[in-house]
Amino acid sequence: MRKIIVALDGLSGCGKSTTAKLCAEKLGYIYIDTGAMYRATTLYFKQHFIDITNPKAITQALSNIQITFHFIQKLGCTQTFLNGLNVEDEIRKMYISEMVSEVSAISEVRKHMVALQQKMGKKKGVVMDGRDIGTVVFPDAEVKIFMRADDEIRAFRRQQELIEKKQIVDLDEILANLKKRDLIDSTRSDGPLKKAEDAFVLDSSYMTLDEQVDYVINLVNSKIINSIKLDEQKRISFLDV
Ligand code: DC
Repeated sequence: MRKIIVALDGLSGCGKSTTAKLCAEKLGYIYIDTGAMYRATTLYFKQHFIDITNPKAITQALSNIQITFHFIQKLGCTQTFLNGLNVEDEIRKMYISEMVSEVSAISEVRKHMVALQQKMGKKKGVVMDGRDIGTVVFPDAEVKIFMRADDEIRAFRRQQELIEKKQIVDLDEILANLKKRDLIDSTRSDGPLKKAEDAFVLDSSYMTLDEQVDYVINLVNSKIINSIKLDEQKRISFLDV
């Protein structure tokens, strides 16, 4: 079966990662959580007291960062590793969420991450979620989706995720963080969060997870079927000449 790139962009906390992860599983594709890459970078900057106003220090730090994703059999899911250490839980904490948009607005950081992400998706067969996947990382992605959801619903869902990780955070604090990140992410000059012109909009506010996954899978399947038909037509018209 031919493989394509699925770009899933959108607002913070609207269910991108969960949807992308399940779609990748169903399609037998690799799932790449680009937000986790910015979060792991933020954690490194924090741990090493990197001055984010100093481009030289940033470039130096980036050259020391290795981010990898590994499937953990015992947990049945993929986790994020920073320089060989599992940082999955740490990067989801609020103190990282508070700083990650600032770090991801830095041009040096974006350039570095975009290059890594392009390398990861080179062989296709990936579902990549983020903010700039359909616009900057893979502007030629075969399927682009822009996800959104109502603010209060996003905050509530994020709170539930944190509770599952035994972190109790006030709903208003989460809502304020989501809104602040949306603002920074969509107004930065480099790779801002925006819908690609050819992206489908998926509003997950009142959709179940299964419905969101089905929506994406249907788009992927019809894209693949259409491209096979198109190739077949080309082949026939070539034989006719
Ligand atoms: O998807 P997330 O909430 O884990 O992402 C964390 C932050 O990373 C988000 O606030 C903006 C940034 N980000 C980005 O700038 N570009 C991406 N492709 C993915 C995430």
